[in-house]
Amino acid sequence: MADDKKVTIVEVGPRDGLQNEKALIATDDKLKLISLLADAGFTRIEATAFVSPKWVPQMADHDDVMRRSTRRNGLVLSALVPNEKGALSAIKAGAQALAVFTSASETFAEKNINCTIKESIDRFKPVIAIAEQHGIPVRGYVSCAVDCPFEGAIDPSLVRSVSERLIAVGCGEIAVADTIGSATPDRVDAMLAEVLQAIPFDSIACHFHDTSGLALTNVDIALGHGIRVFDSAAGGLGGCPYAPGAAGNVATGRLVRHLKSSGYEIGLNEERLATAEEYARLRVGR
Ligand code: HMG
Ligand code: MG
Repeated sequence: MADDKKVTIVEVGPRDGLQNEKALIATDDKLKLISLLADAGFTRIEATAFVSPKWVPQMADHDDVMRRSTRRNGLVLSALVPNEKGALSAIKAGAQALAVFTSASETFAEKNINCTIKESIDRFKPVIAIAEQHGIPVRGYVSCAVDCPFEGAIDPSLVRSVSERLIAVGCGEIAVADTIGSATPDRVDAMLAEVLQAIPFDSIACHFHDTSGLALTNVDIALGHGIRVFDSAAGGLGGCPYAPGAAGNVATGRLVRHLKSSGYEIGLNEERLATAEEYARLRVGR
């Protein structure tokens, strides 16, 4: 492993953190949050989602958010996109990376993106072609990598096969996601062991929601497998409107403190991060 102690945190607060909030957050407040996060030194921020405004009204200002977001050297602003329409708009607005999303559960794919897993991956092909033309990376999320709110426990071999298909169509990184935050460390271990048979550890990121308070233990399991990219949200906000029971992502500050106490290098300014987290909580009234 090249740099065993260096961990990258992908801040997904402006997207996953806010998408589930019922009260609309003002665009200027989202921009302020992204600016505070940029000040804290993140290298990757998922700024917004170019999804249907009918499906997720909170992300309807995606164009404005992406166009007006703070830009910094060394910071990559990414956008979640479900299809070609989203990819074209995101890149036009200045997205520097894209993230496509499917699921290891057919029922969740249908509820969240209104198609089968296969149809979703077919939709990603033009997304990846467009990204390649622009020289920008594409991450592929696999939701319900451990449990599905509708189907229950998910067989790790399904997570592996969906991940393999995402890599085959051109995703450079796979983010396995515990969408409803119910994963236990033993099941995360089993899922990762299976996925790692097909995908190298340095192409995998972990996205843990923290419903059961086990996210940090699950991070430790992933670290043990060599994984060094983790998603989190400022203030522990987050959830998916189409995943009943999904609570917030693991909070970025907690994740940073946990990793640092185990000797990992994160490269963030914790004081500025605390300011960003406070702002995030304040804006959503927590
Ligand atoms: P659909 O209704 O099947 O699509 O939705 P459609 O092709 O029939 O289009 C319907 C309307 O949406 C049309 O507009 C399209 O133009 C428009 P109309 O003619 O009715 O005015 N449309 C779009 N508008 C803006 N941007 C687009 C776009 N595409 C179509 N990209 C669709 C299919 C995928 C669009 C819809 O289901 C959707 O947007 N779903 C997104 C759901 C979502 O964002 N969920 C939360 C994010 S995923 C998540 O949180 C999990 C994650 O965090 C990991 C984890 O924790 O598991 C990533
Ligand atoms: Mg999520």
